[in-house]
Amino acid sequence: MITIFLGPPGSGKGTQADQVAKFFNFKPLSTGDLLRAEINAKTQLGNEIKEIVNSGKLVEDDIVLKLIERNLKKNSNINGFILDGFPRTIIQAKKLTEYLEKLGKKIDCVIEFNVDKKLLVNRLINRYQCKSCGAPYNKLYKNPRVEGVCDICGSTEFTTRKDDKKDVILRRFEEYKDLTSPLLPYYNNLGILYKVSADQEVKKIFDEICNILKNVLT
Ligand code: AP5
Ligand code: MG
Repeated sequence: MITIFLGPPGSGKGTQADQVAKFFNFKPLSTGDLLRAEINAKTQLGNEIKEIVNSGKLVEDDIVLKLIERNLKKNSNINGFILDGFPRTIIQAKKLTEYLEKLGKKIDCVIEFNVDKKLLVNRLINRYQCKSCGAPYNKLYKNPRVEGVCDICGSTEFTTRKDDKKDVILRRFEEYKDLTSPLLPYYNNLGILYKVSADQEVKKIFDEICNILKNVLT
């Protein structure tokens, strides 16, 4: 089963992708995470894309398509994928469909994370993560149980994403509006678009998504 999570920056795609994938035994694939891993590992690709990602603009379609194809191939024995933050342009969407057709697969459903922009800026400027294990935290919603100590690995060092600065967040929203939101009518026309209200509690959104996926599966 192939599911796409589509929504603006900070709408909760990553949070839900991890939990929903665990529940259904699917694999979450976030192009943002894959690109940041390249940047952190200082690979040639990472060095090429660093400035673009940190400025909040979208990386070239061909680069992202290669990364996603490599990861789909590497995990070909997995029974389901949640694509978080991919596709993000009409070109990426068309190429993904072509690629899946070659494998005899298709996109089963697309979940739109619907939420007010003002709320999202607030979420993103308060997001931080453990420097050592990457566990996600948020000053407003989720701090470690013991202040300053990661719940998962005990590290006392934390970091923020380079693209979580106010001006960059606003650029990311513009990119979403201009390049990614046209995917909503595109998938709606294919009859596979489902919406969730992403301004609710994490657990409520999780339940809604699981119900949609269960219905699509049966
Ligand atoms: P990417 O990493 O995908 O970033 P994004 O789409 O901007 O989204 P985020 O990861 O910031 O937010 P999210 O929706 O995952 O929310 P999260 O669960 O973290 O992309 C980064 C960059 O990589 C792009 O700008 C681009 O340069 C490049 N890129 C990536 N994919 C690309 C592609 N396909 N093509 C070209 N370029 C690409 O939640 C956010 C915060 O809110 C967290 O702190 C979380 O704890 C909190 N939160 C989550 N849900 C709730 C809730 N229900 N209530 C309260 N708080 C919540
Ligand atoms: Mg994310």
